[in-house]
Amino acid sequence: MAIKEFNNKVAIVSGAGQGIGFEIAKQLAAQGACVVLNDIDPNLATEASQKISSEGSTCIAVAGDTSEPDIIQKMIATAVETFSKLDIVVANAGITLFGDFLTYPGVLVDHYYLLPLLPGTRHIKIWQLMA
Ligand SMILES: NC(=O)c1ccc[n+]([C@@H]2O[C@H](COP(=O)([O-])OP(=O)(O)OC[C@H]3O[C@@H](n4cnc5c(N)ncnc54)[C@H](O)[C@@H]3O)[C@@H](O)[C@H]2O)c1
Repeated sequence: MAIKEFNNKVAIVSGAGQGIGFEIAKQLAAQGACVVLNDIDPNLATEASQKISSEGSTCIAVAGDTSEPDIIQKMIATAVETFSKLDIVVANAGITLFGDFLTYPGVLVDHYYLLPLLPGTRHIKIWQLMA
């Protein structure tokens, strides 16, 4: 039997209701990790975590905006209370912005850089999981 790469690991993936984050959460779970899946959209978060759980993996949803410190605390508390530890954080939640560099509104740039912050945890790079 093949050894799963993330057996006994506990991971948080933010912005994982769809897209890249969902695929990261799914792959981590398929490789044995217990996943706390976040999305700002509660329906997306619930549906995504149910999809992953239905494939025999362990995944629970914590909905909320990851630019809010309370939500970050809640995700970490959920991981530690449910699975007794936290090994991996994938700060994927974000928005893709397009615009002209010289006229770009500063407030959007501030928001863009705020989102990926999940303080006090160990981050891994997305490319490590997708390679
Ligand atoms: N797709 C690309 O080509 C591309 C390129 C460069 C960077 N990125 C970055 O990769 C990440 C994922 O991209 P994607 O294409 O999968 O995006 P996506 O829009 O498909 O998915 C992003 C998810 O994050 C959620 N989200 C947004 N803001 C949130 C918040 N504050 N808190 C919690 N959840 C939030 C959304 O509801 C959505 O479900 C983003 O950070 C994006 O900026 C994507």
